[in-house]
Amino acid sequence: MQNEYMERLVALGEAFTPGSPVNNQDLFSGRIEQIQKILGGVTQRGYHVVLYGERGVGKTSLANFTSRIYSNSPGVLIAKVTCDAGDNFTSIWKKAFKEITYTTPKAGIGFSPTPEATVAALSDFLPDVTNPDDVRRMLASLAADKTVLIILDEYDRIIDKLTSTLISDTIKVLSDNGTNATLMLIGVADSVSDLIEGHQSIERALVQIPMPRMSNEEIGQIIDKGAGVLKMHVAPAARSMIVKLSQGVPYVAHLLGLHCFKSAIAAGSSSVSTDNVKLGISASLDQWHASIKKTYYDATKSPQPGNIYREVLLACALSDVDELGYFTAANVRTPLRDITGREYEIPNFAAHLKQFSEEQRGHVLAREGTQRRWRYRFTSPMMRPYIIMKGHTDGLWDHDGV
Ligand SMILES: Nc1ncnc2c1ncn2[C@@H]1O[C@H](COP(=O)(O)OP(=O)(O)OP(=O)(O)O)[C@@H](O)[C@H]1O
Ligand SMILES: [Mg+2]
Repeated sequence: MQNEYMERLVALGEAFTPGSPVNNQDLFSGRIEQIQKILGGVTQRGYHVVLYGERGVGKTSLANFTSRIYSNSPGVLIAKVTCDAGDNFTSIWKKAFKEITYTTPKAGIGFSPTPEATVAALSDFLPDVTNPDDVRRMLASLAADKTVLIILDEYDRIIDKLTSTLISDTIKVLSDNGTNATLMLIGVADSVSDLIEGHQSIERALVQIPMPRMSNEEIGQIIDKGAGVLKMHVAPAARSMIVKLSQGVPYVAHLLGLHCFKSAIAAGSSSVSTDNVKLGISASLDQWHASIKKTYYDATKSPQPGNIYREVLLACALSDVDELGYFTAANVRTPLRDITGREYEIPNFAAHLKQFSEEQRGHVLAREGTQRRWRYRFTSPMMRPYIIMKGHTDGLWDHDGV
């Protein structure tokens, strides 16, 4: 019994990893459509891939999964770079080519020489100020007998506009020359134009893959796979609570999964109940990104007794949204009535919505449109699930009816 308890605690950190992308192929869930699109982009000469979406939706995990698919294939060469704010065009390619080594035979010394080999990183052959054509030539020589895939993750962190323009130029020159090398750019963005400078000139060469939130089925798979690793069971009502609370964000599914299963393990049970989920919610709230907690605090603080900032924000989080994640004041009315038990007309809470989109209340919402036609959405995907769970623990609304 004690052994089983310890084993499960150890396995817990493998089953649910809110802090890091999935590296274990067996624990990767869903994303079939996106995988097919990436593979299509890599195999078609002249095409390059852009994968973009909200923070925490699983972009890096998908890139890692793609690399794994190819890792057993000797005909494919992959290098992955994580970009940062200080990068420029040369530093990005130095990092990429550092991962690719080149072996040359070297004649041995003496009367009966034993052949030796020198291994060098390809980055050593790049000029100190690199231009797109240097990169094209190097990639072309690698691509002569291999399929080459270069992944640039966290591409949105590059500040320097010239670097982004030079990457676009590289894509153009690779595409025009039909080089058998694919660039895959990954970043947090609403659209390709937000991510890539001068994207119009290379539009035809890009396979654009928006990374949506996960479906409830995909989130359910994350929970089921975790339960499989732990050899545990989840009660159907508990599973559906976790799925609904995750709001399609895999990070949240991992965070909740970790704490709900931990609560069951601590109680010596091999099955997760709705009570474990309730305990898991509180533990998850504690561990949430500090910036999200701070934004929630800023958005809802008020010295006025009887103010309804928390209720209106929760109603926003529970509102129906369109396919781009936007909701209107009219969408907020019904959930606000369900939470407060009172009928509020739009003018009673329109000022709250406006304030939520301003600096003073943490800019928790983004507002778009014109007078009487405002549309709102949360500025961070982590905000919605946080507000819903906080609403649960603060008793603002009923638990089990998630
Ligand atoms: N397909 C998946 N199957 C299972 N878990 C996933 C999947 N995709 C993502 N996750 C989990 O979701 C969390 C976020 O994933 P990941 O880091 O890949 O997202 P991201 O979009 O790269 O985030 P960021 O924008 O912060 O770079 C991690 O805990 C990861 O384990
Ligand atoms: Mg990432």
